Amino acid sequence: CRLIMCPPPPCRVKNMATSASSKLNKAVKQQYMDLPQGGKVQALYIWIDGSGEGLRCKTRTLDSEPKAVEDLPEWNFDGSSTYQSEGSNSDMFLIPVAMFRDPFRKDPNKLVLCEVLKYNRTPAETNLRHTCKQIMSMVQNNHPWFGMEQEYTLLGIDGHPFGWPSNGFPGPQGPYYCAVGADKAYGRDIVESHYRACLYAGVQICGTNAEVMPAQWEFQIGPCEGINMGDHLWVARFILHRVCEDFGVVVSFDPKPISGNWNGAGCHTNFSTKDMREEGGLKVIEDAIEMLAKRHSYHIRAYDPKGGLDNARRLTGHHETSNIDEFSAGVANRGASIRIPRMVGQEKKGYFEDRRPSANCDPYIVTEALVRTCLLKEEGEEPNDYSK
Ligand SMILES: *[C@@H]1O[C@H](CO)[C@@H](O)[C@H](O)[C@H]1NC(C)=O
Repeated sequence: CRLIMCPPPPCRVKNMATSASSKLNKAVKQQYMDLPQGGKVQALYIWIDGSGEGLRCKTRTLDSEPKAVEDLPEWNFDGSSTYQSEGSNSDMFLIPVAMFRDPFRKDPNKLVLCEVLKYNRTPAETNLRHTCKQIMSMVQNNHPWFGMEQEYTLLGIDGHPFGWPSNGFPGPQGPYYCAVGADKAYGRDIVESHYRACLYAGVQICGTNAEVMPAQWEFQIGPCEGINMGDHLWVARFILHRVCEDFGVVVSFDPKPISGNWNGAGCHTNFSTKDMREEGGLKVIEDAIEMLAKRHSYHIRAYDPKGGLDNARRLTGHHETSNIDEFSAGVANRGASIRIPRMVGQEKKGYFEDRRPSANCDPYIVTEALVRTCLLKEEGEEPNDYSK
């Protein structure tokens, strides 16, 4: 646990299956949202809190529409209320790093993803973007591309999976993956709203589907180069939380929300470099996998926010996962740590898929770890420090 202060376990409101705010009259709200906004712009600043998983946000007014992220002012917040600092020196800085259109308030309003710096302007403990950015700039000539498949589970605010019978379980897995029909697809309104909101925002979403467990879904972000992978995935997660709030439903990125014979939730990561995508790329992919094989435990520590403990519940070797203690790779093998897609095996170039990252992983450290091992050829348990 790399927290300054560990957050309490998520609050579960008992005996209350829907949220009060989701029942407010949305038509009344719309009357106000249709008012002109007097030439001003609302900018919603978003950041990752001290849990490394939670997102926080707050709004400020700008006098004119920012054209680039450089036009956005720095801001600050009270870190003692976000598990990010201890009382004294609790002011933290918000540094705008990526700007998107706001699908909730619409143009000209903005979503602004921020890095968090401490009072002394060093990165906050859960600001993993800072180092990721440095590593990505070291390899920019290799044009590392990523695609991430974000699996998630919809829950009622009582913590029970959305649409599941209140005193039991739905029928066993089988009919739900990519399903259609009221008895098989649970919560599609949320999925549709999220997809369109991401497209409006300018988030690089490339697909979505229902997953193996009922109330479990997936969206895909990519291809994104370098630091953009983390930026786009975090904003897509924010938009999903925000859409779910409107519907009175909660999204969970827990890697194993329901124990037993139910699939967990991962964040499979496709990765390629320029050399892998060109003629002879399969050899480069095989060399990268050889490097990964020697560094399995470093990757496992990076692939969930609890250093492997979360993923230990998911990577059991069952339910289309590999075993957390063993590294494996194979063509079209969903039970392997690394899967080479069948097409890539045939065309002898392309990309590979790392199936180990947990649904609640931080994409900044996942992409950074892949680049360190496969491109910077690092070995051993600790990442190199290039600042020395
Ligand atoms: C990753 O690769 C798989 C095929 O191996 C593909 O189906 C999927 O859409 C890709 N996902 C992303 C996010 O690029």
